[in-house]
Amino acid sequence: MTELHDTARALVAPGKGILAADESGGTIKKRFDSISVESTEDKRRDYREMLFTAEGAADHISGVILYDETIRQRSAAGPPLVEVLTSQGVIPGIKVDTGAKNLARAQGEQVTEGLDGLRERLAEYQELGARFAKWRAVVNIGADIPSTYCLSVNAHALARYAALCQEAGIVPIVEPEVIMDGDHSIERSYEVTTATLTAVYAELHAQRVDLSGTLLKPNMVLSGYNASSRAGADEVADATLRCFRRVVPAAVPGIVFLSGGQSDEDATAHLDAMNRRGPHPWELSFSYGRALQAPALKAWKGEAANADAGKAAYAHRARMNGAARSGGYTPEMEAEAAAG
Ligand code: 13P
Repeated sequence: MTELHDTARALVAPGKGILAADESGGTIKKRFDSISVESTEDKRRDYREMLFTAEGAADHISGVILYDETIRQRSAAGPPLVEVLTSQGVIPGIKVDTGAKNLARAQGEQVTEGLDGLRERLAEYQELGARFAKWRAVVNIGADIPSTYCLSVNAHALARYAALCQEAGIVPIVEPEVIMDGDHSIERSYEVTTATLTAVYAELHAQRVDLSGTLLKPNMVLSGYNASSRAGADEVADATLRCFRRVVPAAVPGIVFLSGGQSDEDATAHLDAMNRRGPHPWELSFSYGRALQAPALKAWKGEAANADAGKAAYAHRARMNGAARSGGYTPEMEAEAAAG
């Protein structure tokens, strides 16, 4: 268990957080479509290799979540991408769920699949170098949802995944994402996030998961993206912290937020506002996908000639979020982007 604890702590080392680069085939295609680039195996390799070799990024990135294809892929120069990461002290991780599917007899709700054969897959991923994993459950907010049925099946699956990970010597990142699409209030987001996390920690406890060898990857408590009036950074920070203090045990070493469709700068400002209110029982860090990658994707446009610009854009976001880890971010720092 000490190794699990050490890995979990290393992932939330001061000033550092996680890059989520584990987009599935469908999701990476969507991202590439947005810059009119065809999603081929080589292009996906080029794009991810660009991120993994960005100078200075490893100062702020402790680990990278990979997709099945990427953990097996070699860099253009030959060494496996996993080695490209570990040679910089970056810990490789792996997404192991197989996606959210419609939940039977529950209109508008989903359950995440991927438990069948998971023990064997984890053993293989451990051989390939993964030291942590991710499983994402999806909780939608609507007039009559989420149901306790949805929260309970997703919490059960998350705990089964987490226990299997720990058996394999892999740190489970437990990700119950309450989706912020919709016009709900921040109070509704607070209520649903609290209920979701309560169900998750009850199952983790029931299934004998050692919380000190886990990380939580939650949404922030926000107003719905289409709400008529949306809460500002201070309100978001206060509501999110109030929720977590009630339901996330202090044995959990770190909370690594997903960005969930927030703008890059909002995701950074919200994390910063929370860390300004510290110290907290857990490290508060990031495990962003879009909020770390969006500017890099736009700068790259699928062209090798733009790789340096893509790297600079990504390294900048890594630096900004690294600063937010200790409440040391100011919007004025964004101007450094031009300077690189
Ligand atoms: P976003 O930060 O883009 O929400 O992605 C994080 C993630 O890994 C979602 O599962």
